[in-house]
Amino acid sequence: MNDRPTQVGQGTATLDEPGAVTPEVKLPPRPRLPKALQAISYAVARTWTYEQIARRHGNVFTMSLPLFGRAVVVADPALAKQLLMASTDDVGNIQPNLSRVLGDGSVFALDGADHRLRRKLLTPPFHGKSIKNYETIFEEETLRESANWPEGQAFPTLEPMMRITLNAILRAVFGAEGEQLDELRRIIPPWVTLGSRLAVLPRPKRTLGRYSPWGRLAEYRRQYDEVIDELIDRVKADPEFDSRGDVLALLLRSTYEDGSAMSRSHIADELLTLLAAGHETTASTLGWAFERISRHPRVLARLVDEAATDDNEYRQATILEVQRARTVIDAFGRHVYAPTFELGDWVIPRGYSIIVAITQLHRRVEDFPHPEVFDPTRFVGTRPPFAFIPFGGGTRRCVGAAFANVEMDVVLRTVLRHFEISTTSAPDEKVHSRGVAFTPKDGGRVVMHRRKTPLAQEK
Ligand code: HEM
Repeated sequence: MNDRPTQVGQGTATLDEPGAVTPEVKLPPRPRLPKALQAISYAVARTWTYEQIARRHGNVFTMSLPLFGRAVVVADPALAKQLLMASTDDVGNIQPNLSRVLGDGSVFALDGADHRLRRKLLTPPFHGKSIKNYETIFEEETLRESANWPEGQAFPTLEPMMRITLNAILRAVFGAEGEQLDELRRIIPPWVTLGSRLAVLPRPKRTLGRYSPWGRLAEYRRQYDEVIDELIDRVKADPEFDSRGDVLALLLRSTYEDGSAMSRSHIADELLTLLAAGHETTASTLGWAFERISRHPRVLARLVDEAATDDNEYRQATILEVQRARTVIDAFGRHVYAPTFELGDWVIPRGYSIIVAITQLHRRVEDFPHPEVFDPTRFVGTRPPFAFIPFGGGTRRCVGAAFANVEMDVVLRTVLRHFEISTTSAPDEKVHSRGVAFTPKDGGRVVMHRRKTPLAQEK
């Protein structure tokens, strides 16, 4: 293996800024493994591949990745911070990104000033105060979904969590009801499953017919656009349009700084983006929460005690620990647009991707002593260190972080209040890749018994 950093070229004046000198490219070490093998290993087992290379080369290394090409992978909190704080003229969103399946109206497709403007439109509905209004929706959806849970029999929680988070987004974000809600509930689950798998694969030049995977994806999109068109007409015709709190109404009411409104197709792309980014991620974290707490009786007992009160400090710490110990989005990335980008001691040339390996950061002994131990108390009464970044960071930090956090809190609280969760000594569930998100392999199976009287009502 070659442990030496790669040096490329000499310091040169560039055309971007006449007279400016571009520092000499200096890339972190790269494994000597042939490119094809790196690509196969990454496609089959990303986390394992990063771990093996990091063991040999340390927390920053160069790789060739399928889809992203030449990339520098970072699992060092100081370097991650530097990247997240960098000028958006120097580094933009990773290329290619999810906009290849979500459309060019998606926030993922935007960079620089366009991205800043879109975030200005999107941020208010996802602000803490607005999300408070969605708490009832989260609770109602949990009660509705749990009404038929099997009594005393093991069942996978992931699928019910998928339905709860889907319905929560369709109601709170899309403002959907009636016929459109039913149609979206029908189209979206199989579409997200397929889209999530295809999002990490190269797109063929031709679609190869409507029954091929990409052809099916296009057909789902056509049906979705039809429903969204009807939904927009319905929301606009609502006599209460001006006071509606759903994200769709907020997007329809807002305008860019020049007074122009978002086009219908961009709104459709953006709603789909919020759904794709927010549905599977939140459900997978909840699935892991059940998997973890059913294997940790003391954690569960403390959660149950707290659920009978209005406090949520320990539940919040548990959610953070689940996000650390079972990170569902393992990485995010940026694309270098500047002629060169200095990252610590390294100088990375234009066109490279820089990937932040979140899962590796979350396992750092320096920041999380005994990282293999599931221990929510590490997050009680303290601020998480910078190494804790399940929602990414900087100007592109997850727009739905507060939404996801409150939703997970309310769903867990509701389940703890209405059900007794049995503990188990079964081995930990393995980590399974669904494409974009990492989920418990057996779906977070638990045994529950409905309480005769819900906890909070016993007070
Ligand atoms: C536990 C649940 C979630 C996790 C772990 C998660 C994680 C992430 C991560 C890692 C990023 C990339 C950030 C970066 O590049 O710095 C991201 C971006 C994003 N997330 Fe989330 N997310 C979650 C829930 C949600 C929800 C509920 C929504 C919306 C309803 C949402 C919408 C978005 C959007 C729109 C972006 C793109 C932001 C941009 O590029 O400006 N996410 N999320």
